Amino acid sequence: MPSITIRQLDEALKKKLRLRAARSGRSVEDEVRTILREAADERGSAAADDPVPAAKRAISRSGAAAAPGRKRVLLIIGGGIAAYKSLDLIRRLKERGFAVRGVLTKAAEHFVTPLSAGALLGERAFTELFDAASELDVGHIRLARECDLIVVAPATGDLMAKMANGHADDLATAALLAAGTRILLAPAMNPHMWANKATQRNLARLIADGVTIVGPNEGEMAEHGERGLGRMAEPLEIAAAVERQFAEAGALAGKRVLVTSGPTHEPIDPVRYIANRSSGKQGHAIAAAAASAGASVTLISGPVNVPDPSGVSVIHVETARQMLEAVQQALPAEVAIFAAAVADWRVANAGEQKIKKKPGQATPELALAENPDILSTIAHRKSQRPKLVIGFAAETENVAANAQDKLRRKGCDWILANDVSPSTGIMGGDRNTVALVSTGGVEQWPPLSKEDVAAKLVARIAGAIEK
Ligand SMILES: Cc1cc2nc3c(=O)[nH]c(=O)nc-3n(C[C@H](O)[C@H](O)[C@H](O)COP(=O)(O)O)c2cc1C
Repeated sequence: MPSITIRQLDEALKKKLRLRAARSGRSVEDEVRTILREAADERGSAAADDPVPAAKRAISRSGAAAAPGRKRVLLIIGGGIAAYKSLDLIRRLKERGFAVRGVLTKAAEHFVTPLSAGALLGERAFTELFDAASELDVGHIRLARECDLIVVAPATGDLMAKMANGHADDLATAALLAAGTRILLAPAMNPHMWANKATQRNLARLIADGVTIVGPNEGEMAEHGERGLGRMAEPLEIAAAVERQFAEAGALAGKRVLVTSGPTHEPIDPVRYIANRSSGKQGHAIAAAAASAGASVTLISGPVNVPDPSGVSVIHVETARQMLEAVQQALPAEVAIFAAAVADWRVANAGEQKIKKKPGQATPELALAENPDILSTIAHRKSQRPKLVIGFAAETENVAANAQDKLRRKGCDWILANDVSPSTGIMGGDRNTVALVSTGGVEQWPPLSKEDVAAKLVARIAGAIEK
């Protein structure tokens, strides 16, 4: 027998409820309430084999927490085509033992009904901010506070904009603004909406605020003939990201982590400098991921245009020599990750005054001097060497071989090697394809968002430190 889709289930449930309501002369909503009450009564008398109803029973009408040890997820469903997949996500999360509550935005109700969401949740889905009964019962503040993670799927462009700017004009955004917990977003939208500068600005703001992102993926859009980056991550991917959130939380608790990020600027004179194209996105994402995992993080950043990550202590520097000084000041640390693209050379004869262009004068010649090698200096320290020293190798050819050579020369423990040839779009882009190089060999990672690279790296670090 072919498997039943969520849409078919939704249709069948609605049809059955309408029939039942027509027969009894009551409203569909009343029928749903009766079914939920009956189900609760049945669960009260029989041992339930689904762990979630057991947890739900523990959430009393007065709003007590879920059963001890059971993680509570608040799923906010936004108004996008992908909302139907979130019904499957509810099932996937419950299968994994999470207690799930649901909120639908007004727009989401155009795509899926509170009825089908409620049927899968095993309790009603919340939709109203200004609803006296809901507010007295659970209320937007308790919805936000009595959970361990909020998942927004699909996260529409609109929801992301509202979150980035602190709006709270409906139940979903009010709960998000009141949240004291971690938030995971699964964006889903048309590729043009996703690429829009406003969405990317909001995304950067949200990441800086400590929000974690899963997806979006590349592929076919609902709109005929459109494809690109913007498809919501699949329910299984989101469920895995939820599990990662709980696994990561606390994985680096009590550890001191040092991260460098961005380029350095090496002055030619007070107004000119030599720089490179590093954006700081990868280093900042690593600092944010380490902080999310409970580490005490010091981020030493060169000049970048990305915001400081929240929950991280940030030291801003300009030159390679300032960066080395700041790194040494920040020791001791258990882990040091050198993601900054430090200039190899500085101008030896930098002018103290602006070098003037005068008619007839020869073009000035810039003599270069070698900058200190921060990675090698720290990796070769006799005292206060971090247990794990990780470097980055930005290469344009022979990536793995050059990285292995760099690992030996610098004396570090791991190198994350990436191909930064302009055609890869990695420098300044949002995605990265890296290989983790250690004395154990070369492990190629698939193309990932820079946040996912950061999360994967932090998980590996946590594993290595534990050993
Ligand atoms: C057919 C249709 C499909 C839509 N799909 C999406 C989508 O996938 N992603 C998105 O960000 N907005 C989408 N929108 C626009 C949102 O529904 C709209 O911005 C709405 O205000 C979002 O409300 P919410 O963020 O409160 O859920 C779609 C609109 C329509 C009419």
